[in-house]
Amino acid sequence: MTPMNNAERFSLLRETVNERLAALLPEGHGPQAELIKAMRYSLFAGGKRVRPILALGFCSACGQDASPALDLGCALELLHTYSLIHDDLPCMDNDDLRRGKPTSHVVFGEWLALLAGDALQAKAFETVGRCGLSDGQTAEALRVLARAAGEQGICGGQYLDLSGEGKPRDVAALYTTHSMKTAALIEAACELGCIAAGAGMWEREAARRYGQAVGLAFQIVDDVLDCESSTEALGKTVGKDAASQKTTFVTLYGAERCREMAAENTRLAIDAVENAFEAPEFLIWLAEQLCGRVN
Ligand code: IPE
Ligand code: IPE
Ligand code: MG
Ligand code: MG
Ligand code: MG
Repeated sequence: MTPMNNAERFSLLRETVNERLAALLPEGHGPQAELIKAMRYSLFAGGKRVRPILALGFCSACGQDASPALDLGCALELLHTYSLIHDDLPCMDNDDLRRGKPTSHVVFGEWLALLAGDALQAKAFETVGRCGLSDGQTAEALRVLARAAGEQGICGGQYLDLSGEGKPRDVAALYTTHSMKTAALIEAACELGCIAAGAGMWEREAARRYGQAVGLAFQIVDDVLDCESSTEALGKTVGKDAASQKTTFVTLYGAERCREMAAENTRLAIDAVENAFEAPEFLIWLAEQLCGRVN
């Protein structure tokens, strides 16, 4: 049997994550079935599953079987999906298309979309709490995920993003915003993979550096795609950042320089893991894929 290549491995991990998510959040039949339907609608709308796959990839790169990281990976996806539902709400980015489908509030109305997001976030922490790792690892994973979600992570970054609309922003402010709203959760994904593997501080530090750099590249590419891609290819409405008068790396530097900046951050990510892990090949491939992604 020929060994699996990186692309095949990615597909297999994505399938594994999808199956586990389906088991963690089965269809509901009780009085709150419609809420569960709304949670599942966004969770199974076709996300790339980048964050869980990073967690699984880091666990394997530590020389372990990836399975101890599976529930932590699913928790990351639950939390990420909540952040997208809320990001799309009329009071935030006001988007009506996500993952190629009408957004949660378009289908279910605003209050139910809000609650679906809230419940997905809670489900993420419940999932970490029951992940089957040791008490010490579980407590550490909860701290890492909570930090990435709160005022030092997604919520802090979303605050900076929205409060900056229509105002001139410099590059330092933009780095801080992107680092918090997007890179924080990607960094947490990488570190959670190491926690699941029982890795030491050296690996965890390397994972955080990789996650920050990949996360910055990821949002820079997202901003470029918002300007240059099509709604069909992206599965979300293009041109939204300009319409909302957001300052992005593209407005400051232009798309061509942004592609170079994404490549520079990808290089930094690869440098961070190349010598720190037993088996870094998949992580290197993944960083390159995310830099060159088209959706
Ligand atoms: C979109 O994230 C939001 C950003 C942080 C740019 P993804 O591009 O990972 O979205 P899905 O999960 O694949 O839909
Ligand atoms: C990232 O920013 C969103 C979150 C951190 C939730 P964007 O607002 O650019 O993400 P998209 O483009 O709507 O996916
Ligand atoms: Mg946004
Ligand atoms: Mg948005
Ligand atoms: Mg965007």
